[in-house]
Amino acid sequence: MTLTRKRVLVTGGAGFLGSHLCERLLDEGNDVLCVDNYFTGRKDNIAHLLDSKYFEAHRHDVTLPLYVEVDEIYNLACPASPIHYQFDPVQTTKTSVLGAINMLGLAKRVGARILQSSTSEVYGDPAVHPQTEDYRGNVNPLGPRACYDEGKRCAETLFFDYHRQHKTHIKVARVFNTYGPRMHPNDGRVVSNFIVQALRGDDITLYGDGRQTRAFCYVDDLIDGLIRLMGTPADVVGPMNIGNPHEISVVDLAEQVIRMTKSTSKIVFRPLPQDDPTQRCPDIGYANRTLGWEPRIPLDVGLQRTISYFESVIAQRLEH
Ligand SMILES: NC(=O)c1ccc[n+]([C@@H]2O[C@H](COP(=O)([O-])OP(=O)(O)OC[C@H]3O[C@@H](n4cnc5c(N)ncnc54)[C@H](O)[C@@H]3O)[C@@H](O)[C@H]2O)c1
Repeated sequence: MTLTRKRVLVTGGAGFLGSHLCERLLDEGNDVLCVDNYFTGRKDNIAHLLDSKYFEAHRHDVTLPLYVEVDEIYNLACPASPIHYQFDPVQTTKTSVLGAINMLGLAKRVGARILQSSTSEVYGDPAVHPQTEDYRGNVNPLGPRACYDEGKRCAETLFFDYHRQHKTHIKVARVFNTYGPRMHPNDGRVVSNFIVQALRGDDITLYGDGRQTRAFCYVDDLIDGLIRLMGTPADVVGPMNIGNPHEISVVDLAEQVIRMTKSTSKIVFRPLPQDDPTQRCPDIGYANRTLGWEPRIPLDVGLQRTISYFESVIAQRLEH
């Protein structure tokens, strides 16, 4: 059994998605190395995994080279919420671009297959709806979101160049809005924001008129998609949209959260931030045909699990 364990590196493994991915990979019998600089990730997210002898956590910044022996690499390291990636935009671009170069260099050296967690943000404020993978996007290269969007676009370019030039075994997933337990409570993302505000009885802040739509994927579905993509034959390289195509307006989401938390919060409206997309929805036909994958967890079920998580986080904080 031990001889057949795959050694899997997860960069950004102490973050929201990374910690769920580490957990799943460990459950499936792999030997997991989590690498993180803890910029937005938290030790609490992976503390429950540290008892396993097949799990290792290593503090490291992916802008620096890494020398380890692994069979697979999931490259997730990068702050994902606007508040965090705009905090130090130069570092954000470095994380995407230098991080991709360093992890691709590692994959090339040791012959590992490597999956990039790219993003729907590569489509910018899309003029095509829903977004298919061949749509080239509408990104403002000069705006405050560009450090993330353009960094991720450049990372995709690097992945495909390593593939063409060095025959590196790559997979590029374009991840759409994902939510679930272990989201950072203060990252300003819409689901965590609404739930935390509703649980505290604070006003629920809604940007714009609230009619902009989003499509939310529950974390377990997303992780399942990433693992399936990693397991595909070498000729499947992506890019592949992974997300939930079920659209909901932001105001409807706010009202659903208020109902589910039985909150007394009121909705208040604020101006829309610059370059905020008005509509974002994946076409997941390619993932469905290639991986036999589609999201399974309905929004109300995923929201309930996420609400329970934030209830326990808030209760723990009150205790302390
Ligand atoms: N959650 C989503 O809805 C979503 C959507 C699209 C794409 N993604 C992508 O998925 C990945 C994970 O996102 P997440 O939601 O878990 O965000 P997150 O912020 O919770 O996780 C990112 C992790 O990367 C770590 N990190 C950041 N810079 C690093 C560096 N230079 N070196 C090492 N570690 C570093 C952080 O500490 C954190 O643990 C990101 O690449 C993000 O762009 C996420």
